[in-house]
Amino acid sequence: MTPRSGQGGGSALPEGFVWGAATASYQIEGAVHEDGRVPSIWDTFSHTPGKTLNGDTGDVATDHYHRWREDVASMAELGLDAYRFSIAWPRVASGDRRGLDFYSRLVDALLENGIAPYVTLYHWDLPQELEDAGGWPERSTAFRFAEYAAQVARVLGDRVHTWTTLNEPWCSAFLGYAAGVHAPGRTDPAAALAAAHHLNLAHGLASRELRAAAPAAQHSITLNLHHLRGEPEAVRRVDAVANRVFLDPLTGRGYPSDLLEDTAAITDWGFVRDGDEKTIAAPLDTLGVNYYSPTLVRIWDGASPRDHADGHKQGEASPFVGCDDVEFVEQPGPRTAMGWPVDATGLEELLLRLHRDHPGLPLVITENGAAYHDEPTPDGRVHDTDRIAYFNDHIAAMRRAIEDGGVDVRGYFAWSLLDNFEWAYGYDRRFGLIHVDYATGERRWKDSAHWYRRAIGRARRGELP
Ligand code: FCB
Repeated sequence: MTPRSGQGGGSALPEGFVWGAATASYQIEGAVHEDGRVPSIWDTFSHTPGKTLNGDTGDVATDHYHRWREDVASMAELGLDAYRFSIAWPRVASGDRRGLDFYSRLVDALLENGIAPYVTLYHWDLPQELEDAGGWPERSTAFRFAEYAAQVARVLGDRVHTWTTLNEPWCSAFLGYAAGVHAPGRTDPAAALAAAHHLNLAHGLASRELRAAAPAAQHSITLNLHHLRGEPEAVRRVDAVANRVFLDPLTGRGYPSDLLEDTAAITDWGFVRDGDEKTIAAPLDTLGVNYYSPTLVRIWDGASPRDHADGHKQGEASPFVGCDDVEFVEQPGPRTAMGWPVDATGLEELLLRLHRDHPGLPLVITENGAAYHDEPTPDGRVHDTDRIAYFNDHIAAMRRAIEDGGVDVRGYFAWSLLDNFEWAYGYDRRFGLIHVDYATGERRWKDSAHWYRRAIGRARRGELP
């Protein structure tokens, strides 16, 4: 495969820098009953009354399973070097070969268009039968995941440029099993910590299989690292249970002792067995970083009304296990339709921190973007100027980290290629470069898509996007 970046010469960005866009299987595919696909935890969750906004489900989503050729054509027109998508485990778990055939055709079409496939194996759609057997809090799920990874790698092997085992295991473990706002909707802090460990273990076990089957490919994992600001003790607490619970074991440091102490009242971590930390520390070629906004924290005084800017309300289960005395503080300034603050300096600081704490670990920004309530105007266009500003500022922040901070960033993926099923928020939050009319499936380029195409072109010519 021949990624196109760097051909223009003279670019301030490193040679071979990759421009891409990202999606995830359940958010775009639809076709939930086709080609033998079995149910996932997100089918169950989204069909449970009250779990998603307006009762939205991914049954049809953007119908990408049928419209993928049109979507690949858009990627080619955008000038993408790479496309990051995920494989639906429920299409493979069925044992029906047609599921993997779909991805095989997609990968070939990408390669024919000079677009490098970046494949994520788990973007949250656990087969329901594995949740019924205990889900991620159960050790055996990690081994099932490694078998699934091996199965996919046997078929797609070295046609894939970068293999990403997991997307945002923090969300899987803590939104899924502690806060209960994502599938499978459980609210059990001890189960969430066990899930975090088994996700780490799943990554390590799968990495071995993937590297053996695809030695020429790049191997990675994507984390949604929380960029934390505020009182040092509050920052330390959240950093442990949101960032270092993954980062440290993945990079060979094992679980941080402060995390074990902070969570001692919840679990004794008996689920970590001898040798697990070694397995988790499988070599990483790159680390995927998803960034949307920074988080401001302080220690709660225990008396005044509590600020819950992380979204959960008083009395509701928190995803931040063991952080009951931490307060998430509302931040001033502009916000996206998710209510997330817009602040590109957080991305720059996060990249600098990773560079400092993990020198020699190349980074790829595997997701960055913003939701707005975009609708076409009478001129037939979608004027999403806020999104263009968001991308522009965040790309500039990334460039500062690269040029001034010397951070090794290898690529940038916009979230998302097209509007899609935004989990618990259903279709109400639009993140796409491309607008989707959910009644008809019709795609329409927003102004940001035109802007991104020009920005990629300028970056290739060595001009600032
Ligand atoms: C990330 C997810 C992605 C999308 C964006 C907005 O946490 O990985 O699927 O929902 O947020």
